[in-house]
Amino acid sequence: MVICSSCDKENPDGFAFCGYCTAPLAKQPPRPALEERKVVSILFCDLVGFTAASEQQDPEDVRARIRPYHARLRHEIERCGGTVEKFVGDAVMAVCGAPVAHEDDAERAVRAGLSILEAIAELNETDPDLDLKVRVGINTGEAVVALGARPEQGEGLVTGDVVNTAARIQSVAPVNGVAVGEQTYRATSRVFEYEPLVPVSVKGKAEPLSLWRAIAARARLGTDISRPYKTPLVGRELEKPLLIGTFERAAQQRSVQLVTVVGEPGVGKSRLVAELLAYIEAKPEITRWRQGRCLPYGEGITFWALGEIVKAEAGILESDSAEVAAAKLEAAVSPEEPERQWLLQRLAPLVGVEAASPAERQELFTAWRRFLEGLAAARPSVLVFEDLHWADEALLAFLEYLAEWSQGVPLLVVCAARPELYERRPGWGAGQRNAHTINLSPLSDQETAELVSHLITTTVLNQELERAILERAATRSMRRSSCACSPTAASNRGETPWRRRRCPRVCRR
Ligand SMILES: Nc1ncnc2c1ncn2[C@@H]1O[C@H](COP(=O)(O)OP(=O)(O)OP(=O)(O)O)[C@@H](O)[C@H]1O
Ligand SMILES: [Mg+2]
Repeated sequence: MVICSSCDKENPDGFAFCGYCTAPLAKQPPRPALEERKVVSILFCDLVGFTAASEQQDPEDVRARIRPYHARLRHEIERCGGTVEKFVGDAVMAVCGAPVAHEDDAERAVRAGLSILEAIAELNETDPDLDLKVRVGINTGEAVVALGARPEQGEGLVTGDVVNTAARIQSVAPVNGVAVGEQTYRATSRVFEYEPLVPVSVKGKAEPLSLWRAIAARARLGTDISRPYKTPLVGRELEKPLLIGTFERAAQQRSVQLVTVVGEPGVGKSRLVAELLAYIEAKPEITRWRQGRCLPYGEGITFWALGEIVKAEAGILESDSAEVAAAKLEAAVSPEEPERQWLLQRLAPLVGVEAASPAERQELFTAWRRFLEGLAAARPSVLVFEDLHWADEALLAFLEYLAEWSQGVPLLVVCAARPELYERRPGWGAGQRNAHTINLSPLSDQETAELVSHLITTTVLNQELERAILERAATRSMRRSSCACSPTAASNRGETPWRRRRCPRVCRR
């Protein structure tokens, strides 16, 4: 391709003049391939025994058999935010983390792997002749990513050892199982249940690879909060007592309180909520603590976070069948509840069980509120909704309804959200007498330095790296405070700091 310098249109190689504007086409130096190193998660999935079986079949039949399988695989991968890089016969290679990177790419890849297993089971159920079996392998690590590659046109997106190792992991994965390498396991062990597999040797690697089999997603996701924090809390002398005080108010006055902890990614929202959990755990009285996380991707996730809370209450696991989930839900609703059947029917969709009769949104809201009030009536309860900026409009409406209409029970609803929540819903919580916002601004330079020094003492680093990190932290906080996106600069311009857009360039916050 030659790009015309006059009209920017693409012309085939060998053209002397532009086919669009007739300007002479200068010989262009070859465009440098734009590449970037990124941490990605690679998923390989291959059908077991399919090649041997297809050798005896007509190619048309093979293609017809494999088409719904390919379509379904692509659907499951894309649903979790992955990109299909290529289909090779009956195998697929997909990438999570390129071209678009997310903070939870490893988690997305494992979710895609587990959904593929479910999809295969469904395909087999619809057509038992298919008898499909797969092995899925996932590996996470640094790869070279070709920027601007078009995988839908067969262009390679990622290369590197991480890809070859993923293929190797796939080849030794259990039949109808998802095997993951060490980095994927470490990034997601809080989110999924795993069992160790026998380590395998790989060409070119001295040590055998440690492998795990992903069993199921844990019902209690809430990954951020259950993460153990190794460093002490720095700063937040005002915000921590504010959050604890609001909990005490809910508990002592038997009232419902809604707190939204707002701040930029990584500023410490989940950490602050974890401080509340530590406070509650240290108290002699028992408090119910339930947490759910809003997911940025996937279907049927409108009330996912609320579903997690109800599932955790009923002890329902992701791996439970609909019948088991329904039985556990029944056991979780008191037999004394006057409208028990009505309540069970309305709660069922939250735990993935189909209700006998559909209900209007308002009726669902009433039932869910009743259930949560029932929990809080028994003992003080805290419901945490992590990553509320990803919540669907309907979940936000429910939480506001819950905070507005529930009365007389000790219930604290804590939401952690990035500022974009207010871009989508400027009036979130506004005007509600029991709604509070805790705005977390970045730690001060001194606090940042303190945090970094704690991190360094808990991690073994070489001196050079340690010096580089400290220098970087110092520069970052200098840039931050001088950048046009800083809270001070924003308020000087008359903007509300939490409604600022993400800094486009200077400090990359
Ligand atoms: N005040 C603090 N003291 C000590 N560590 C902190 C503090 N604030 C944040 N951290 C640490 O920084 C990391 C990121 O914090 P955290 O996960 O709470 O951010 P977040 O605001 O919830 O981000 P996200 O929007 O991505 O969920 C964590 O390891 C946390 O322990
Ligand atoms: Mg968080």
